[in-house]
Amino acid sequence: MRKPIIAGNWKMNKTPEEAKTLVTELAPLVKDATCEVVVCVPFVDLALVKKALKGTKIKLGAQNVHWAESGAFTGEISASMLKELKVEYVIIGHSERRQYFGETDQTVNAKIKAAIANGIKVIVCVGETLEQHEQDETITVVSRQTIEAFKDIPKEDLKKIVIAYEPIWAIGTGKTSSPEDAEETISVIRKTIKKLYGSAPSEAIRIQYGGSMNPKNAKELMAMPSIDGGLIGGASLKAEDFAKVVNY
Ligand code: PGA
Repeated sequence: MRKPIIAGNWKMNKTPEEAKTLVTELAPLVKDATCEVVVCVPFVDLALVKKALKGTKIKLGAQNVHWAESGAFTGEISASMLKELKVEYVIIGHSERRQYFGETDQTVNAKIKAAIANGIKVIVCVGETLEQHEQDETITVVSRQTIEAFKDIPKEDLKKIVIAYEPIWAIGTGKTSSPEDAEETISVIRKTIKKLYGSAPSEAIRIQYGGSMNPKNAKELMAMPSIDGGLIGGASLKAEDFAKVVNY
C-alpha cells in the first residue's frame, strides 16, 4: 500500500512572517490527515516555518537545490544547507524551473543525486507542454523525462523519491487533466519505472498529480488507483483550501 502524499508548492509566495501565519492556521486543520502532508516553501521561509511546524505532522520542503556540494554558484543553495535546516523534501525539475531557469533532464538528475546524498527526499516533476499534449507526445515526453531523471539512481534510493506528473497546460490555468487521462499517463510513468527497476519498485513508488488540483477536484483525482497524491500550487496558499485537499 502506498501512503498518499500531498505537498503544497508555494512557489514565490509568502514572506517569512506570512509563511508562519499560514502554517500556524494550517496545522490544526490537517491534524487528522491520513496522508503525508508537506509544505514546500521559499528558501527564506524555511527556518521560521520549521519552528512553526514543531509538534505538527506537516513536513518541511524546499522548491529547488543545486547539484554541487558548495562553490562558486552565486545565488544558489546546496543540499547540505537544506539538510542543516532539517528540510525533508525538495521539489526538483518543476516545469517553471525547466522553462524559466534552464533546467534540463541532466541537471534534474544531478540535483536528485545531490539531495539523496544529503538525506533529503525528492519530489521530481515531469510533464508535457500544451503543444506536446496536442501533438500526442505526452507519453514520449514523460517517459524520456523519467528515464533521464533516474539515470544511475540505484534501486535502493527509489523509496526516497516521489514523482509528480504535472501537465504544464494544467498548471495555474484552472484546467485540470481528467482523472482518467492523469491516471493513464501516470500508469505509463509507472511502467517506465518497471522497465528500469522491475515490478516491486514500480508498485512502491508514489506518483502525484499536479496542475490546478483544488478542493473541488481532489477527491475524484485521488480516487484513481495510480494517483498517490498531489502537488498543489495555488490552492496551497490558503490554509482552508489546502486543508480541504489534504482531507479529500
Ligand atoms: P497549480 O500549481 O496547483 O497552481 O496549478 C501546481 C504546481 O505548479 O506544482
